[in-house]
Amino acid sequence: MPDTSPRGLTRLAFGGDYNPEQWPESVWQEDVRLMREAGVTMVSVGIFSWALLEPAPGAYDFGWLDRVLDLLHSHGIRVDLGTPTVAPPAWFYRAHPEALPVTAEGMRHEFGSRGAICHGNADYRAAAAAITTRLAERYGSHPALAMWHVHNEYGVPVSACYCDSCAAHFRRWLATAYGTVDAVNEAWGTAFWGQHYTGLEQINPPRATPTVGNPGQALDYRRFTDATIRENFRMERDILHRLSPGVPVTTNFMTALSQCDSLDYWAWGREVDLVTNDHYLITDGRRTHVNLAMAADLTRSVAGGAPWLLLEHSTSGVNWQPRNPAKAPGQMARNSLAHVARGSEGAMFFQWRQSRRGAEKFHSAMLPHGGTDTRVWREVVELGASVDSLSTLRGTRTEADAAMVWDWQSWWAQNLSWRPSEDHDARERADSFYEVLYDRHLTVDFAHPEADLSAYPLVVVPALYLTTEAAGRNLTEYVRDGGTLVVSYFSGIVDEHDAVHEGAYPGALRDVLGLTVEEFSPLLRDDRVRLTGPDGEEPTGDVWTEFVVPRGAETVWTYADGLTAGRPAVTRHRFGRGTAWYVSTRLDTRGLDAVIGRAADDARIAPRADLPRDVEVVRRSGEQGSYLFAINHTAADAKVPLDGPGTELLTGERAAGRLAVPAGAVRVVRLDG
Ligand code: GAL
Repeated sequence: MPDTSPRGLTRLAFGGDYNPEQWPESVWQEDVRLMREAGVTMVSVGIFSWALLEPAPGAYDFGWLDRVLDLLHSHGIRVDLGTPTVAPPAWFYRAHPEALPVTAEGMRHEFGSRGAICHGNADYRAAAAAITTRLAERYGSHPALAMWHVHNEYGVPVSACYCDSCAAHFRRWLATAYGTVDAVNEAWGTAFWGQHYTGLEQINPPRATPTVGNPGQALDYRRFTDATIRENFRMERDILHRLSPGVPVTTNFMTALSQCDSLDYWAWGREVDLVTNDHYLITDGRRTHVNLAMAADLTRSVAGGAPWLLLEHSTSGVNWQPRNPAKAPGQMARNSLAHVARGSEGAMFFQWRQSRRGAEKFHSAMLPHGGTDTRVWREVVELGASVDSLSTLRGTRTEADAAMVWDWQSWWAQNLSWRPSEDHDARERADSFYEVLYDRHLTVDFAHPEADLSAYPLVVVPALYLTTEAAGRNLTEYVRDGGTLVVSYFSGIVDEHDAVHEGAYPGALRDVLGLTVEEFSPLLRDDRVRLTGPDGEEPTGDVWTEFVVPRGAETVWTYADGLTAGRPAVTRHRFGRGTAWYVSTRLDTRGLDAVIGRAADDARIAPRADLPRDVEVVRRSGEQGSYLFAINHTAADAKVPLDGPGTELLTGERAAGRLAVPAGAVRVVRLDG
C-alpha cells in the first residue's frame, strides 16, 4: 500500500487554515512563534489565494507564498498546500462571465463570495489547470510540503449549474450512460405526462417547471453534477501527481449529512489519496457530540476504515448559524479527541488567527481576537500537548461493532418531490438509528448497500428507499449467511431510475424480510399510533404506518390503533442462518431501542458495560498497540472498565481496573501488551 499520510509529518496533525495574506508580514513572525507554543505541526495554506497568486491572467506573484512556506519550514511546521480553485479572481469572471453558475430558475450568480463555479465551464477548467500546474511546478518538491489540498469543500455552497453549456454536457453524459434517447425515455418513464423525447438534443437540465418535474431526470442530474465536479477534482489531482510525485492529494469533504448533500462520497473516497473531513457542530440544542461521532464514523467508512484526517472544525462558536454559542470549557478537546478516537490522524481547525475583516470575523479561531490571554488560547495550547501525547497511535484503526447501510444516491431519490409524506426524512432515520446504537456504546461503520457486510454481526438499514437489485441481493445474502438485519420502512422500493420494483413492496427486500407491504399509510402531523408487543412494551409510532402482510415473518409488535390496527408493525424473519427485522413505523426512541436490543441479542452482541449514555468509549488498535478512548460528555465523574492495565497518555498515569474519567474530561489508555 502506498503511504498516503502527510509527507514528513511524524506526529499527529495539529493546526488549522493559515491565511497570512490577511495580515501584514510583521505578524507572521508572531504567528510561527505562537504556533510552536501551541504545538502546531501542520497548517493549510493558500486555499483562497488565487487573486493574489495570479493578479492578472498569466502573471504570477509567488514571492509572498515563497516566504510563508520558507518561514513555516524553518519552524518545523508542515504545509497542507491549497490549490485556490474555489475562488477564481474577479478578472477571470469579467473575462468569462459564463463561468458563474446559473440556478434552476435561470439566475446567474455574481462574483463577490466564493465557490461560484460552473464546473462544466471550459474556461474555468483551463484556468484551474493552469494555476494548479504553476503551483505544482513551484512547490511540488518544497521541503515544507506535506500534502496537497485541492479546492475547498467541493459541492458547497453551490453544486448544480443549469446553464446552456451544462445542458450540452448533460446530453453528452446521457449519451454515454444510456446510448439512445429511447433508453432515456424508458429509464425516466417519460410516457407519464407526455414527457417523451425524440432526440437527446431536446433534453435540458431539470430547470424550474410549473409543477413537479420528472424524478428520473432530477436524479440523473444529481449524478451528472457529482460526476462533473469529480472530473475537475481528478484533473487537478492528476496534475499534482505528475508534477509532485509521492505527495498525497486530498480535498476536504463534509460528510456530516446536514452539511453537504450533493456529493456521493463513496465515489469520492476512492479518488483521494487521504480522506479528509470538515465538521462543524450544528448547535440547535441536540446532542451535538452524537452527530460528531456519526460524521467521524462516516468519514472513516468513506476511507475504507483507513486513518483519515479532520482538516477543519472550530475551537468555539461558528458565525454562520442563526445562533452561534461558544463551546463550553473542555468541549473543544472532547470534540477533537472524539474525532481522533474514530480514526482521525489529528485535529485541525478553521482557522489559525481570527480574521479582522471579511465574512468570517466572528468565527472562532485558534488565536482569537483577544490574543493569548484568553480561555480559547489556553485550551488550544493544552489540546496541542494532548494531541502530541497520542502520536504513537498513528496508523491504528477504529474497531466497529455494527454497520449502518448508507447511500447518498438513495438519499437524493428520497428527497425528490411528491413522496407519500413530507415528514419522512431519510437523514432523520439515519440519525435516529445511529443515536440508538451510540447510546448502546456500539461503534458503527457505514457501508454502501452493495458492500461486503460479512464482517458485521449486525447491520441496520434506515430507509433505503432506492435499493438496486444488486443491493437487494447483497442484503439478502448477508442474512442468509447468518447476519442480523434491521430495516426501516420505505426501503427496497425503487431501482436506480426511481422506478418501483415490480410486484409488491418492498420489491428488493421482500424475500429477506418475509413480508409484503400492501399500502403505505402516513400519519397526519402530530398523530401517533400505539403498538402492543412482548413483555408489555407499548411504544408509539408517528409519521408513517403500513399495511404489512407477513409471508414467513413473525409479528413482534402489532398496531393497537389507527387505520392499521391489528396489523403487524414490527416483524422478525428467520431466514437462512440469520434474522431480518422490519420496522414499519417511526418508532419512538424507546421502541427503536427495544428492537435494536433484540436484534443485538440475535446477533450475539454482548451488552456493553453499564456506562452512562454520554460516556463515549471507542477503541483504536493496530500493530502499535491498543488504545481505549473514554470521553465523558456528562457533568458527573464516571468510571470506565478497562480490559487490562495500561498507561493513560494525557496524564501519564498508570491505569487498571476501572478508569476514572472526571466530568467533561477525556482519557486515553494505551493498554499493555
Ligand atoms: C468551512 C470552510 C472554511 C470556513 C469554515 C467556517 O466550511 O471550508 O473556509 O468557511 O467553514 O466554519
